Amino acid sequence: MKILNLGSLNIDYVYRVDKFILPGETKSSISLNKNCGGKGLNQSIAAAKAGNEVYHAAYLGKDGQMLKDEMAANGVNVDMIKEHEETSGHAIIQVDDNGQNCILLYGGTNQCLTKEFIDETLDSLGNEGLVLLQNETNLVGYIIEKAAEKGLQVALNAAPMNDKVLSYPLDKLSWLIVNEVEGKQIAGCESDDEILDVLKKKYPNCKILLTLGSKGACCYADGKLYTIGCHKVKAVDTTAAGDTFTGYFLYGVLNGYAIEEALRLATTASAICVGRNGAAASVPLKSEVDEIIKNKTFGVLDITVE
Ligand code: RIB
Repeated sequence: MKILNLGSLNIDYVYRVDKFILPGETKSSISLNKNCGGKGLNQSIAAAKAGNEVYHAAYLGKDGQMLKDEMAANGVNVDMIKEHEETSGHAIIQVDDNGQNCILLYGGTNQCLTKEFIDETLDSLGNEGLVLLQNETNLVGYIIEKAAEKGLQVALNAAPMNDKVLSYPLDKLSWLIVNEVEGKQIAGCESDDEILDVLKKKYPNCKILLTLGSKGACCYADGKLYTIGCHKVKAVDTTAAGDTFTGYFLYGVLNGYAIEEALRLATTASAICVGRNGAAASVPLKSEVDEIIKNKTFGVLDITVE
């Protein structure tokens, strides 16, 4: 099944630091890299590297050619990316000694989508496929509405979380993909344990993927709850780990894998990603993921089904 990602593209300016900068502090970074990123771009590349047929639609400024080239080089169809006079989106990212990050976004062309552009893009997909979204673009609610009207499946990764997410027609999604922070805010609950119970009652027609960082991930689908842990690997840079998980998980569920195996594939891909620097560049190839699963290089994680 085709994936159409109406998603964000960012130039990532990545500053290595020992510790994140504090309010009022001035400090020197250890290094600076200019990388291809954006949750949309990373997810398109992950989905394509996993083996999906992926189309990415977006606006891009004149400064963003490297983003388009990187996607094309990784097998993403970029014919629906159009030039725009605004500058491209970018992210200022600090990565610390523990491989953790903090990210400041500038929306740029990611916030310039128009209803005409969206309608035209959705028409070109026909009546079969999955529309993939993140919360880094404008008009997300409109896209969900229109894609669902056409009978298309819609998957939303509600990241980064903000109040706008609560106004989207989330009941029309096929997949809601959240981490614990996003999950708690959408569910309106206080503890991680309550998230899935609340969300499955609130959106009974939607399957839910909940990623929990070092605690693993859970998925609620077709009346069952699936839980997997996380591989213990040394984190070099966690940027794009969630995006890698999303792209690989969608590959699994769209290509006939049992949910357990889709979770295993995504967890392994994501573990490889955190051991590498960068965003899109850290997404592994499917052959690397398969090899690690086959050889049990990271060990074997139990998956529970209830
Ligand atoms: O999920 C990681 C991504 O978040 C980075 O590549 C950055 O661009 C931000 O969108």
